[in-house]
Amino acid sequence: MSDDEIKSFPEKKRMFYPPRKFVEQANLRDPSVYSRATSEEGWEIFWEDFAKDLEWIVPWEKFIDTSNIPFYKFFVGGRINVSYNCIDRHLETKRNKAAIIWEGEPEGETRVLTYQDLYREVSKFANVLKSLGVGKGDRVAIYLPMIPELPIAMLACARIGAVHSVVFAGFSSQALAARIDDAKAKILITCDGYYRRGKIIDQKARADEALKHLKEAEIDHIIVAKRAENEVVFSEKDLWWHEVVMDSSQKCTVEKMDAEDMHFIIYTSGTTGKPKGVVHTVGGYLVYAYATTKTIFDLKENDIYWCTADIGWITGHTYIVYGPLSNGATILMYEGAPDTPHKGRFWEIIEKHHVTIFYTAPTAIRLFMKWGEKYLENYDLKSLRLLGSVGEPINPEAWWWYHNNIGGGNCPIVDTWWQTETGGAVITPLPSLTPLKPGSATKPFPGIFVDVFNEKGEPTKPGERGYLVIKRPWPGMLRTLFKDPERYVSTYWSRYGKEIYFSGDAAKKDEDGYIWVIGRVDDAIKVAGHRLSTMEIESAVLEVKNVAEAAVVTRPHEIKGNEIVIYVTPKEGVEADEEMGKKVILHIREAIGAIATPGLVVFTSDLPKTRSGKIMRRILRAIASKDEIGDLSTLANPEIVETLDNSVKRGVSGVIIAG
Ligand code: WT7
Repeated sequence: MSDDEIKSFPEKKRMFYPPRKFVEQANLRDPSVYSRATSEEGWEIFWEDFAKDLEWIVPWEKFIDTSNIPFYKFFVGGRINVSYNCIDRHLETKRNKAAIIWEGEPEGETRVLTYQDLYREVSKFANVLKSLGVGKGDRVAIYLPMIPELPIAMLACARIGAVHSVVFAGFSSQALAARIDDAKAKILITCDGYYRRGKIIDQKARADEALKHLKEAEIDHIIVAKRAENEVVFSEKDLWWHEVVMDSSQKCTVEKMDAEDMHFIIYTSGTTGKPKGVVHTVGGYLVYAYATTKTIFDLKENDIYWCTADIGWITGHTYIVYGPLSNGATILMYEGAPDTPHKGRFWEIIEKHHVTIFYTAPTAIRLFMKWGEKYLENYDLKSLRLLGSVGEPINPEAWWWYHNNIGGGNCPIVDTWWQTETGGAVITPLPSLTPLKPGSATKPFPGIFVDVFNEKGEPTKPGERGYLVIKRPWPGMLRTLFKDPERYVSTYWSRYGKEIYFSGDAAKKDEDGYIWVIGRVDDAIKVAGHRLSTMEIESAVLEVKNVAEAAVVTRPHEIKGNEIVIYVTPKEGVEADEEMGKKVILHIREAIGAIATPGLVVFTSDLPKTRSGKIMRRILRAIASKDEIGDLSTLANPEIVETLDNSVKRGVSGVIIAG
């Protein structure tokens, strides 16, 4: 970009322009990439050029098949292996380059795996899976924390064509069981334990507990990685990872996967209580992960790239494992909490490993902001050249804090909007080309067609609120919901017809075409960046003894963005007390996990309802947020509103008995 072009940007808003130093070294410097990628002639070529960087066993015949929408196919006829492209492809030039730098939570613990190490460990483990009868298309459940065995297991599955379903290690046994059941996995991979906030979490015991809850699936074997050396109970089904890999061969030929074969399933929360199994396939997903990582993070040979997400979520799948490794990058993986053993831990890690690209979540940034700058003082963060944000809207205050204090005032920040379903970033700046507006994820990635529609399906005018939609398919998109194609169609491709992807988010465009994401419009909620479903939490609460009714809403929270508030009516004749409140909280943690812990539980004799008996969640949300309550004329029982409002005003957090 020339100086003149930079000067011609509108100065009216406080924008951040790509610094010259960054632009000069960037991979992408030609702004025409946007117009080329969205032009009729250029669209397919744009994607195919990225696909050509990868190694295909059989080249594709057709970029896209639209004969059965919305069941799109990409790279039709192509054959490819993800594991090969993330590892073997790099061996000739990068055999001794670090693929994974791992930092354990206990200080001083570091493991480095070169690409050759990764090749060996993945192949050995892939052979173990094969010897246990795992073949192409079989599902493997992975319940591992942030240790190298997690990406190794994923890449081993990909190598032999098995479908992994990684379940976030912080999910409860019951949540794990539901996911194993749905996917009908036959192998479970876990570990003895791991470190979190200085404590050892007994992961194997949680995995064992999950097996007791299984209703449909049957697990043949649990493979247990040794991490924390805590005592575990072993049964005949259990195998130690280190023992089974010992005599396993390090040669494992790769499965010739069809581009549209299933690569993995990842469960996410939706409108009903039942999590949705989002299906991603091999070819399109890999091309998308590769292309977006390369361009959005401006990856270079010597970068040390750190995405702080957990691999248990899609962010970690795409931007820790598949995107960076398909680019031959060095990734940093950290096992533990940001405040263990001290609140400067992240900055210490950046200095220690000379991290150059840092990608984290607004919720973490707000936490660091609250802790204050004093935790940064002792560390040199000058290695950083690019920052990223993901998971929820970032408030401009947090943006500037991040920019000034972590980025030293000169790193671009890529605020990336996307979803489990999109496979990779969809709305995002290109750091060398897109002037940034703090709080906006800016513009669609080249080759992606995003818009904001009103109820009627017309594009909204600047400043008008509407629904975020994607108007053309893209290679990284989900292909279906596991065993539930009808739900796939009704959730994403019905609101505006079969050709428009409905994201479930509200958004606005501004006069420059920048997109400002507002948040979810369905029953999904975002708490500390985690996507949960109000229905899933409500059904957990309804399982608690003596609970008659429950309603789950969120209210704004300084750090987490949103926090969960639960209103509960006890059964006739039952007096709610503190103890019952604790039971509700405990049960939510058992049914889902600690991430769903509510900030407030309110017991009430009644919930505000319409005359037809519908719970008015809008009112409950306003009460919890201490907002204007608004019109009560449609309520059958308006008197309960005042009682609830007065009680919530008194209480801050914990358990409140209203009335
Ligand atoms: C929802 C998807 C993106 C992968 C991790 C989360 C919200 C995500 C942003 C952003 C504003 C964002 C949306 C979206 N979201 N990124 N940069 N700005 N909102 O994936 O758990 O499937 O959640 O996260 O509401 O729909 P997910």
